[in-house]
Amino acid sequence: MRNPAFIVFEGGEGSGKSTQAKALSNRLRKLGFDVVSTHEPGGTVLGNKLRRWVKWGKEVTLPSELFLFLASRSQLVTKVIRPALARGYIVICDRFAASTIAYQGYGRGTDLSLLESLNDFATDGLVPDLTVLLDLDAEEGLGRKRRKWDTFEREDFTFHKRVRDGYLEMAAADAERWMVVDASLPTIQVEELIWERVREFLTYGKGFVSLATTSP
Ligand code: TMP
Repeated sequence: MRNPAFIVFEGGEGSGKSTQAKALSNRLRKLGFDVVSTHEPGGTVLGNKLRRWVKWGKEVTLPSELFLFLASRSQLVTKVIRPALARGYIVICDRFAASTIAYQGYGRGTDLSLLESLNDFATDGLVPDLTVLLDLDAEEGLGRKRRKWDTFEREDFTFHKRVRDGYLEMAAADAERWMVVDASLPTIQVEELIWERVREFLTYGKGFVSLATTSP
């Protein structure tokens, strides 16, 4: 089923974005939608290389870090997201431009209006139709991480708290295009809350397709 839409998952460390992005993609595919599922940083050959550098690189300066994320984003938008939307796919992306505002802006302290301009340049003006924010206390999120911690996970709690506050501010400023979900709820409940909103969005938000009578 062709019904182009761009849905992004955002949130702090350990908030369950990847699990929820996957669950939503599977659900939509089962209902017959054409779905492309991708993530940032990464999702392209170059992006996957950049991902390793930003997560595990040593002595990466703040501007370098920022430009690596932007480079990865630009590749992903041009090579994957825009072509998929043009073919009528629903694109589900684990992190996008708001991650830069939250982490490099609120977290690292880089000027927000500069970041907005750079994001606009890197995305060529592409804005998600819906952003799902999985909101979770930073300590709880980091407590869920089991493997070796990357550059961001090693930042202190005050950094992660600023990131969380940044996300909540962005969501509050654009309630129509953002939904905030309490990520401390059981996974299945989070999945249902997201589905309710996505279903409503696909039914009425874009006016393309009626899902009102479609059972999950
Ligand atoms: P993750 O894919 O495991 O969440 O790792 C990506 C990390 O990169 C995560 O800690 C958030 C961070 N990040 C930024 O700092 N800025 C960005 O623009 C993006 C996309 C991610």
